[in-house]
Amino acid sequence: MYRTHNNGELRASHVGQEVTLAGWVQKSRDKGFIVWVDLRDRYGMTQLVFDEERTPAAMMAEASKLGREFVIQVTGEVIERESKNPKMPTGDIEILVKKVTILNESLTPPFTIEDDTDGGEDLRMKYRYLDIRRNPVRENLIFRHKVSMAVRNYLSNQGFVDVETPYLIKSTPEGARDFVVPSRMNEGQFYALPQSPQTFKQLLMVGGLDKYFQIVKCFRDEDLRADRQPEFTQIDCEMAFIEQEDILNMFEGLTRHLLKEIKGIEIGDFPRMQYDDAMRLYGNDKPDIRFDMKFAELNDVTQHKDFGVFNSAELVVGIAVPGGNKYTRKEIDKIINWVKRPQVGALGMIYSRCNDDGTFKSSVDKFYDQEDLAKWAEVTGAEKGDLVCVLSGETNKVRAQMSALRMHLAEELGLRDPKVFAPLWVVDFPLLELDEETGHYHAMHHPFTSPKPGQLEMLDAKPGEVKANAYDLVLNGNEIGGGSIRIHDKETQAIMLKHLGFSEEEARAQFGFLMDAFEYGAPPHGGLAFGLDRLVAILGGQETIRDFIAFPKNNSGRDVMIDAPAPLDQEQLSELNLKLDIQAT
Ligand code: AMO
Repeated sequence: MYRTHNNGELRASHVGQEVTLAGWVQKSRDKGFIVWVDLRDRYGMTQLVFDEERTPAAMMAEASKLGREFVIQVTGEVIERESKNPKMPTGDIEILVKKVTILNESLTPPFTIEDDTDGGEDLRMKYRYLDIRRNPVRENLIFRHKVSMAVRNYLSNQGFVDVETPYLIKSTPEGARDFVVPSRMNEGQFYALPQSPQTFKQLLMVGGLDKYFQIVKCFRDEDLRADRQPEFTQIDCEMAFIEQEDILNMFEGLTRHLLKEIKGIEIGDFPRMQYDDAMRLYGNDKPDIRFDMKFAELNDVTQHKDFGVFNSAELVVGIAVPGGNKYTRKEIDKIINWVKRPQVGALGMIYSRCNDDGTFKSSVDKFYDQEDLAKWAEVTGAEKGDLVCVLSGETNKVRAQMSALRMHLAEELGLRDPKVFAPLWVVDFPLLELDEETGHYHAMHHPFTSPKPGQLEMLDAKPGEVKANAYDLVLNGNEIGGGSIRIHDKETQAIMLKHLGFSEEEARAQFGFLMDAFEYGAPPHGGLAFGLDRLVAILGGQETIRDFIAFPKNNSGRDVMIDAPAPLDQEQLSELNLKLDIQAT
């Protein structure tokens, strides 16, 4: 037996017992006549003691050799500590060691294995197994386990069946590039790794399974951000014989259950917002509604004077920043420089201070009088002591800029409290989205999403205005899930694919299997997928999903620990019928 107890469990009540413990040396303090060693494992830390009076000399020598991260096993007696440490659960006791075995030595770790480490991101990724020994990382992984177990139990209790779908498939368009895998047995042919199990879960509905879920890896070759990884995990779900309302209720139930079970927070009905309203009021489709600062359109109250910047703008939009009049001129300049950064791209920002005496002081006093500025305050809902910030320009661009500014200011003002949870359904998404670069429309969600009843006919005349039976679940300004009611008949699917630019042959080649299945009694169906990594990170009060993934990729999509991706050797390449010049380019 390696151990009788773990390192987090011994208390004063164990005093006098002989125990065997195993773990890693966190640190040791060697005073010559006495050596203390902190022994760590997943469960906690226990203090070991060796002292001249009670420990044989040979073992004292052994004790002083114990370096950081050595793996050891000790047997000894639980004794009461002279100076207790109330901060440690095991702080009342220590182990007077009678036998010590070094199970494995360790090099000095490249960073300290402590809650606040001195290791930079890259170093910690390279030695991720050491990083995982640190409490915050380990706790995040255990937290993730708890969330995924709660999800499994909940969905299983609701009658969902966990079904595995294949990873070696054919490309399914979800808007990103595919990762591809060459086929040795089929020369010149490639599998694609699934961007999601979308078509398979639909086929499971045609197969009559009725309620499916899977906690599943998805692969997308896209640019990485804090909330994106090239391989990530979905809680993927699908149901048959349902309407949008059924799906929203089911997954609102799941989310509410998780908030209660994991965070102890009870939340009532989730608010719903139309996509158009989200764009108009918050400038994006995943608004953080933990705080207000809604957009107010100011065209009517700004475009009657000689201020050319506003007069030539498609949209003039303002927000009231609570308490923002406290900003000094210098601080406001900093905000203006922030919106002018290329990442935000505004040309400038106009502001109006709402003074405590009811007067206003704006950066465009030359053009606007007190009466005008009072209107700005009225429309934005600004009160005395607030600051009205105004941006102008082309509608989509200025909304995105204002949305970035709103989030930036909220962050600075401490309004994005990670302990507060504000879920929101965003519904009635457009079916299609215009790709500004190519001038083509593509599916905003994916090509299997159904249009709202009666809107299919509008596809030709007003493609951009057709609304879809599609919805996203937003939590604290993050899209944590999305789904739709699907098309389940061949004709509608064919019309959709045609509008997305697929010729009949291309549609047949790529989606023939699905269209065929639709001819054998496909039930009405729909579903949703949560991003598990995002959900877990946000429930954990953070937004960087990397911290909740055991072995994440860095921002260039590399695993710096195993050093992947890597070139293949010639033999492997020829076996796969891949020409070497592919490797060289
Ligand atoms: P969608 O593409 O919206 O829908 O993805 C569902 C959820 O997955 C998460 N997500 C990601 N998380 C981390 N890294 C990524 N690169 C990444 N991409 C997406 C998001 C997102 O809301 N098949 C459909 C679902 C359906 O229609 O049922 C789909 O995949 O949280």
